[in-house]
Amino acid sequence: MKLTAHRGVSSLAPENTLAAFKKTAEMGYQWIEIDVQLSLDRVPVVIHDQSVNRCTNGEGVVGEMSLANLQSLDAGSWFSEAFNKEHIPSLEETLLLANEHNLKVNIEIKLYPEDDIALLCERITTVIVFSQIDTTQLLFSSFSLQALKHMRRLLPQIPRGFLCEQIPQNCLDLLQEIDAYSVHCDYLFLNKQQISEFKQAGYQVFCYTINDPQKMSEYWDWGVDMIITDKPQTQVPTGKNC
Ligand code: G3P
Ligand code: MG
Repeated sequence: MKLTAHRGVSSLAPENTLAAFKKTAEMGYQWIEIDVQLSLDRVPVVIHDQSVNRCTNGEGVVGEMSLANLQSLDAGSWFSEAFNKEHIPSLEETLLLANEHNLKVNIEIKLYPEDDIALLCERITTVIVFSQIDTTQLLFSSFSLQALKHMRRLLPQIPRGFLCEQIPQNCLDLLQEIDAYSVHCDYLFLNKQQISEFKQAGYQVFCYTINDPQKMSEYWDWGVDMIITDKPQTQVPTGKNC
C-alpha cells in the first residue's frame, strides 16, 4: 500500500512541522503532503489554515504576518509540550529536510479567497529552483485549476494533481486541460466506479484523508494508487510502502 503522510505524520507530531516530516522518514515512509501559502513578505511557508490561531500560540492571518513574525511563534505546544521548539517551516527549510531524508513532497498550493495565485506559484518556483532539489521528488496539488495551470507553465516537469472534494461532472476534461498526472479525491465522495474510470483514462487516483485501516484496505483494493493519511502507523510498513 502506498501512503502519504498528511501534513507529515500529523497524528504523532504537530502538523506541517519539521518534526512531523522527520517522523515520516523515521517510520520508513517516503511521501509527505504539505500546505504552502505566502507570508506578508512573500515567502512560501508551510501551514494549512488561513490564520495561525489553531496551530500556534499566536493570532493573526498568515498572509498579514512577516516570515520573522510567523517563525517566532511556537507551532508545537498546541499539540504537546514535547514539541514546544517547533516553528512554522518555510518551504525552503522543508525542501532541505526532504533532500536530507530522501522524502518526496506533495506540495499543496493552498489558496484562500483574495490570495494572489500567480505570485504564490512564482515564489514557490523560485524556492524550488534555488533549493536544487531533484524535481522527481516533487508533486504539485491544488484545488485551484488556475494554480496548476501556472505550475504547468513554470515547472512543467513536476507532475500535477487536481484536488477535489465532490468530483465535478467535467473532471476528465479538467484533468486534460492541465495535463494532470493524478486526481486527488476526498474518499467520502469517491466510489469504485469512478476510480476505474479515472484509471482507464490514464490518471493516478489519490484519496484523502483516510485514517481508518479498514477503509485504507478497502480503497486500496478498489485500485487507488495513493492513500493520504494522518496515521500511516496504522499500517505495517513493508518494502512496498511509498
Ligand atoms: O492533499 C489532500 C488534503 O491535504 C487536502 O485538503 O484541507 O487537508 O489541505 P486539506
Ligand atoms: Mg493539504
